[in-house]
Amino acid sequence: MLDVHGGVPLKGTVRVRGAKNLVPKAMVAALLGDTPSVLRGVPAIRDVEIVTGLLELHGVRVTPGPDRGDADGELVLDPAAVEQGSIVDIDAHAGSSRIPILLCGPLLHRLGQAFIPDLGGCRIGDRPIDFHLDVLRKFGAVVDKTPGGIRLTAPQRLRGTKVGLPYPSVGATEQVLLTAVRAEGVTELRNAAIEPEIMDLVMVLQKMGASITVDPARVLRIEGVDRLDGYFHRSLPDRNEAASWASAALATGGDIMVEGARQQDMVTFLNIFRKIGGRFDVLEDGIRFRHPGGDLTSTVLETDVHPGFMTDWQQPLVVALTRASGVSIIHETVYENRFGFTDALRRMGATIQLYRECLGGTPCRFGRQNYLHSAVVAGPTPLRAADFTVPDLRGGFSHIVAALAAEGTSQVSGIDVINRGYEHFLDKLHGLGARFDAKAAA
Ligand code: EPU
Repeated sequence: MLDVHGGVPLKGTVRVRGAKNLVPKAMVAALLGDTPSVLRGVPAIRDVEIVTGLLELHGVRVTPGPDRGDADGELVLDPAAVEQGSIVDIDAHAGSSRIPILLCGPLLHRLGQAFIPDLGGCRIGDRPIDFHLDVLRKFGAVVDKTPGGIRLTAPQRLRGTKVGLPYPSVGATEQVLLTAVRAEGVTELRNAAIEPEIMDLVMVLQKMGASITVDPARVLRIEGVDRLDGYFHRSLPDRNEAASWASAALATGGDIMVEGARQQDMVTFLNIFRKIGGRFDVLEDGIRFRHPGGDLTSTVLETDVHPGFMTDWQQPLVVALTRASGVSIIHETVYENRFGFTDALRRMGATIQLYRECLGGTPCRFGRQNYLHSAVVAGPTPLRAADFTVPDLRGGFSHIVAALAAEGTSQVSGIDVINRGYEHFLDKLHGLGARFDAKAAA
């Protein structure tokens, strides 16, 4: 439980390290190599702990780098003794992560079989895995659903295939990459995701010996090879964490230097940030984000796959938009159910209405269904303290920022969810001048 005292602008410096949405995937890629891999910039987050445990259950030795320790976040991953983990252990360990699904291809290549427990992750929609299973079947895997999870087998070496995704899913694109690199022959993937984290995974795989071409029209061509080596790689920085701190600066009227943030990964975010009245300076070692004083301006935006406005940037920005003058419209087109976090903001005094219609943009997949996937935010509204439980990673970050921007003291429980994706979260908040007290749950 956390008591958060509001009304203090966040000011100071935070550092972002490797991206939560790349590092676990690069760790999984190490399973494909015949020699050890070295990954740098690994953040101390719960998702990394979960993947470390999963890889260890499959015989991969995961050790911190010899000299560099936590400061550089180096991990050495040695896949010399890969084996099938115990199903009970895998099930118990995987917990809330969706990463286990990405072990399928590498394990099928190495062992001819894999077991994937039922998947968790943030509660932000149905988050199905149908694309993953469809592509694995196309490579020749046999998929059996069992009560506890999914058992996959490869009766023979997986074969390259031509496949098109119904939607440019990040996870399904990673699934294809991690499977195709060691499959026999050529794979062509159409309608692929091309997020910066996907491109970084392509870099990792190329370093290992894979042959991948990227066509900007969302087509990936992968020539399978018989053997891959380990890699040496430094992860791209976490652009989602950087955008979260940027929005926190705006929402609290603060000034935050985000060391490690990279302009090239955040161009779309930076455009919107400036449009609503935020200032930023791109410096050699990061980006400084600040509220320049005066009024913020409302905006209309739509989340989308890269190079669009990323869905993970939406929630912290909504908190800043409660402070903007006028009516903002946000159309969420990636997940059908990502506005649940606005309930708590309404209780704090925000004026936010949710709609089933596609507002302010082009019609999306969710338009004719019953999903509240558009939000209208009218501002500026002062926020006041409230008590709430953290719902999911990005929603939780937003709630804490709202509590910091609000008048009074909010009681927050379930803060642990935030550690899944934000490293040293409370330490960073403390360093930025936030006032809060941690106390044991009653
Ligand atoms: N989808 C399907 N079937 C599938 C897979 C996806 O219908 O088999 C749908 C999803 O339901 C969703 C859409 O496709 O509506 C996009 O999902 P995607 O597969 O792209 O998402 P993901 O790989 O599960 C990753 C990130 C998310 C991020 C999304 C979108 C990781 C671990 N997670 O999820 O990050 O929002 O891509 O960019 O990389 C977060 O960081 O808080 C987070 C949720």
